[in-house]
Amino acid sequence: MVAWFKKRKPASRDYYRVLAQIHNFLLPESYVEIGVRHGESMALAKSAVASVGIDPQPDLRFPLPGSVCVFPMTSDAFFEQHDLQAELGGRKVDLAFVDGMHLFEFALRDFINLEKCCRGDSTILVHDCRPVDRETAARERTTQLWSGDVRKLIVCLKKYRTDLTIRTIDASPTGLAVISHLDPSSNILTGMLESLYKEFVPYDYSNIEHNKSEQLNLVNNSPNEIQSVLTHRARS
Ligand SMILES: C[S@@+](CC[C@H](N)C(=O)[O-])C[C@H]1O[C@@H](n2cnc3c(N)ncnc32)[C@H](O)[C@@H]1O
Repeated sequence: MVAWFKKRKPASRDYYRVLAQIHNFLLPESYVEIGVRHGESMALAKSAVASVGIDPQPDLRFPLPGSVCVFPMTSDAFFEQHDLQAELGGRKVDLAFVDGMHLFEFALRDFINLEKCCRGDSTILVHDCRPVDRETAARERTTQLWSGDVRKLIVCLKKYRTDLTIRTIDASPTGLAVISHLDPSSNILTGMLESLYKEFVPYDYSNIEHNKSEQLNLVNNSPNEIQSVLTHRARS
């Protein structure tokens, strides 16, 4: 914890309940998490027989299932140095959760690297896609609650990967995106990485401020809505 971050009323963390519901519904055999910290979300991967966690500074405080292997490195270093499918015992990724560095370009690379190791019917979850306000959504961190500009990944994917199905569950504190109908063979994003940085790094908060619901494909945080997002994916 960094003392100089502006503190606010502690935010409710309903996304853990939503994550647990997703695990219970999908029962993934293989799971990957980028950004593990204390292991609270990683601990939910109970059905998986192979799980990979990636975090340069893990500070594990929750008991993790025996299937979990945590790599103490950044996600970029992991994907440069490791073959994810081999680390999962030859399995493709069933479910992944992106919750590492809260900056657009990091989340974009995490999505690209994960999708290559998925099947078409796998699911990628991305945390922090529904920002609370401009201050907590800035690229520079000044507040304890910080979503950074991960939200831009949703706007970017909606524009350039119209083949994907994207829904952002309005789970507190900062939303959880569910991305399905993946295409592991797609090179669209890899081929335009530099131009995507140029387009979206400066993309201002005002572009979504008054239109979050449509821009981020928001859906209610209710068990029925969540189930329908996942059922839609399961029927692909
Ligand atoms: C918000 S915490 C993760 C919380 C956890 N997923 C949970 O919900 O219980 C973010 C974590 O991302 C890690 N992180 C920061 N930069 C990263 C990077 N480049 N690659 C992977 N993880 C990173 C941090 O060390 C931190 O532990």
